[in-house]
Amino acid sequence: MATNVKRNFYIKIFYTVMFVSPCLLLPAFVPLKAGALFPLYCFTMSSRIRRSPDAGICDISVTLGMQPQFIIIHQQVAPYVAHIQLNRPKELNALNLQLMSELRDALKALDADDTVRAIVISGNEKAFAAGADIKQMADKTAIDMLNIDQFSTWDAIKKTKKPIIAGTSGFVLGGGCELAMLCDMIVASETTRFGQPEIKLGIMPGAGGTQRLTRAVGKALAMEMVLTGRMISATEALQAGLINKVVPVELYLQEAVNLAAEIAEKSPIAVKLAKEAVLKAFDTTLEEGLHFERKNFYLLFASQDQQEGMQAFIEKRPPVFKGK
Ligand code: CAA
Repeated sequence: MATNVKRNFYIKIFYTVMFVSPCLLLPAFVPLKAGALFPLYCFTMSSRIRRSPDAGICDISVTLGMQPQFIIIHQQVAPYVAHIQLNRPKELNALNLQLMSELRDALKALDADDTVRAIVISGNEKAFAAGADIKQMADKTAIDMLNIDQFSTWDAIKKTKKPIIAGTSGFVLGGGCELAMLCDMIVASETTRFGQPEIKLGIMPGAGGTQRLTRAVGKALAMEMVLTGRMISATEALQAGLINKVVPVELYLQEAVNLAAEIAEKSPIAVKLAKEAVLKAFDTTLEEGLHFERKNFYLLFASQDQQEGMQAFIEKRPPVFKGK
């Protein structure tokens, strides 16, 4: 253990000198934008975990049994927060079948991992995702599409119990917009543009665009976006109730992680049951929804976290939630 601590200390010093120091000099040469910081962020986050055997965190790629090709998983970007980055930058993160399968598998693994309480999904500064992969769909027949059953991965993603925050920038179009809406909250950079442009391709949204967008922004704007393909700005999306926050481009990912970290401090059981109850509001009548909420509320009184949360309040100290 002592050797490990010592080794980790020297490794940290080495990486700090090698990578952080040049970054401090960077502003002298180039404007320090998110693009310049992002690789460093990715590197430090992923390498930190690989080099922390004492943290009790398993390498998720081991759980997955493979190294994903089109996503990058950063574990513990904040305490109990994992970050999945969509990574097909040349294609503006177009969502091909493999990327969606990798995303499904990663979310399933993170959902089952006790060291994760909230998940951030992002793309890059230019695109969260520009939609389903048009090139992969272009020559398909209706029967091909039926057999490929691409939306079964989306159905699986929908079952993720832990909260998911989308951190968006640039294009969030078609399936990209639908994926962001499948997440529980959206933190957008001021350069984000949301749209459902499928109508321009002679098709229509197929992964929830007509339903989730309408519920989020109302009939008038949803109808306009779906029937004309017009993109809306982050500011318009905020006003319409589609997203939670708009921030400068260099901050969007950090803000998404901060929001996830704030949730991750809470009781994971309470968060899970509360998320489930909020989502129920979209599927049911008010009466049934209230009934569902009440059952989840009572259930939480079986948790140690409820006792800890209330005891900590009485003792005027911060609670320590264990997810039990
Ligand atoms: N599928 C496949 N490839 C895509 C793509 C997509 N959805 N979006 C962009 N790309 C590719 C482009 O073909 C291009 O590749 P090449 O360099 O090999 O030509 C590369 O990404 C860069 O794109 P552009 O050169 O077009 O970049 P731009 O900055 O000029 O334009 C854009 C950006 C306005 C987003 C434009 O790329 C665009 O309109 N993309 C398509 C958006 C769209 O229609 N999305 C809906 C898809 S259908 C869907 O999502 C169905 C569903 O509901 C599930």
